[in-house]
Amino acid sequence: MTHPARPQWLRRPDNVAPGIAYGADYNPEQWPREVWRDDVRLMREAGVNIVSLGIFSWARLQPAEHTWRFDWLDEVMGLLYDNGIAVDLATATASPPPWLTAKHPEILPVNERGETLWPGGRQHWRPTSPVFREHALALVEKMAGRYADHPALSAWHVSNELGCHNVYDYSDDAARAFRTWLQARYATVEALNHAWGTAFWSQEYSDWAQILPPRLATTHPNPTQQLDFKRFSSDALREHLRAERDILHRLTPDVPVTHNFMIMGGTKGMDYAAWAADIDFVSNDHYLEPGPQAYDELSFSANLTGNIAGGRPWFLMEHSTSAVNWQQINIAKKPGELARDSLTHVAHGADAVCFFQWRQSAAGAEKYHSAMVPHAGPDSDVFRSVTALGATLRELAPVAGATREQAPAAIVFHWDSWWAVEADSHPTDRLRYRQEALDWYTAFLNLGIRADVVPLGTALDGYSLVVAPMLHMVGEPVAKELQGYVEAGGHLVTTYFSGIVDEHDHVWLGGHPGALRDLLGVRVEEFAPLLDTETVTVDESLPATLWTERVQVTGPDVAVLSRYTTGEHAGHPAVTRRTVGEGSAAYVSTRLGPQGLTTVLDGLAAAAGVTSELPPGSRGGVELTVRRRGQERFGFLVNRTDQPLPVTDLPGEPLVGARGRNGELSLPPRGVGVVRLA
Ligand code: GAL
Repeated sequence: MTHPARPQWLRRPDNVAPGIAYGADYNPEQWPREVWRDDVRLMREAGVNIVSLGIFSWARLQPAEHTWRFDWLDEVMGLLYDNGIAVDLATATASPPPWLTAKHPEILPVNERGETLWPGGRQHWRPTSPVFREHALALVEKMAGRYADHPALSAWHVSNELGCHNVYDYSDDAARAFRTWLQARYATVEALNHAWGTAFWSQEYSDWAQILPPRLATTHPNPTQQLDFKRFSSDALREHLRAERDILHRLTPDVPVTHNFMIMGGTKGMDYAAWAADIDFVSNDHYLEPGPQAYDELSFSANLTGNIAGGRPWFLMEHSTSAVNWQQINIAKKPGELARDSLTHVAHGADAVCFFQWRQSAAGAEKYHSAMVPHAGPDSDVFRSVTALGATLRELAPVAGATREQAPAAIVFHWDSWWAVEADSHPTDRLRYRQEALDWYTAFLNLGIRADVVPLGTALDGYSLVVAPMLHMVGEPVAKELQGYVEAGGHLVTTYFSGIVDEHDHVWLGGHPGALRDLLGVRVEEFAPLLDTETVTVDESLPATLWTERVQVTGPDVAVLSRYTTGEHAGHPAVTRRTVGEGSAAYVSTRLGPQGLTTVLDGLAAAAGVTSELPPGSRGGVELTVRRRGQERFGFLVNRTDQPLPVTDLPGEPLVGARGRNGELSLPPRGVGVVRLA
């Protein structure tokens, strides 16, 4: 997070009540003026008190290079303020207007094949283009200058989802910037040659000018070059974020600056754990991925966002009231899901709940994407749910400002390991880093044990149990940190393909899992991935897929907790646990999936002294999360299932939801209760 003297949360207009902010992206440029009046009337009805404005307005604000048109935005800002609605104002730089790309086609991104990505969609700009940067920053100056003192201005929204479509650009601008980034990292070409292992395949460089982004090659480009390009590409966008932010900080020092991250599903290009340092408060966008772990994934993302925000409140900038438009099949939300999804983000620390978007578009690529006011209009289930959620959020006003309470357990998340694990030319291309982490998270949810998802680098000492799934890239400092954690009495669990390489993606020699071998007290000589059609069993009943290994126990005090019972390694260890003083280091050598991990984790958690805080009947069905302010604690109870669930032995008084006849809290399918914990 930026300097603590800077505002760390929304600046609240004098006519907006304190509490949880509620609203949407508002795109009035898509509608005639008459609709704007109707919009603010309905916003008030729904309890909306903030909107994000101007995100895709560049062409409307600057229709030609020397023509600026702010009259319409002035009017909208005024209308919103008069109706008690705050504005999270975008810098409007997300999507360059046609006049700019026509005049300067050299700002257009280029893919790995050397093909230009043309205008027609959005975000068609090179993160490293000096020409784009100049024009974007001129717009930021104009916006900041014009609206600095506007009473509705509550926060700045830099660009939009940086890197959503343009994270990897292979243009000549990118090549130049990549070289500069590499020079800063390695100082000499020799150091780069060593890090990239260029002795292999005659790749040794003798001059910086020879180095390129990993453009389409005859075969697998150099792995460390690919990894560094990922690191560079994340940093290049971060630099753009900082450039916009610096202008806003200079011109409007009292207004906080945020940017909407995409901590969700498969979005992996941006290392948000690092980016969080550059903004005043964290915002996230989240969209559900249909499937059996849809809810768990939402909770996982919200949890990680809350921890990246350092436990402080954050802003849910976008999610959907119902279907999106960009999946293969876009499913509508079931009754209860709209509120459940929003409140799960609140449970994990969001103090603002917004949707994409306010009014469903009649035209354009997102016309089938749901919104707060759907095509059907306000006489609709969606709008009724939206209004009901507005009322619930008002009831939750006392929660605003409360921070996340640390859980007893943690799952470590590491972008570099994610990037490295899913690279090409590996023992199998089926490895899915985030899925493995999510499977462990589901296991925690199944057991009713609270677990934080924390970026690597977070202090671990407060956690009794730490799972580091597929922590593939482990440099010496990380290995030492994990060892220190265990020696101090912590309980560490890690999995297959962890500790294999250092920060340059060089294999630790002497047997796997190199960097963690001694700590775990195991040694593996060869990986044994499985074909898609193969399954082996562990402990006779747990199906294991994707990966196996011949695990040799080498260290002292190592207990074999589970064994392979079929396949090549039948009879050999599958799960081990080494006791180290009061602590321990456990190793899971195969993919067990959410169900198998629930069984394994049950034992590991018990051994670490970590138990569920939920009454036995609610474990698994209900997710418990806690927010805290001083002595005040708020427990969020979310029904993960499609069945009604009573929560008995309620540990406090309900703030949202009501006690039934026997004092229990009845959660409808997908329902949420909030309790002031005693
Ligand atoms: C986000 C984007 C929004 C909208 C939304 C649709 O990626 O920021 O502008 O496109 O997705 O789900």
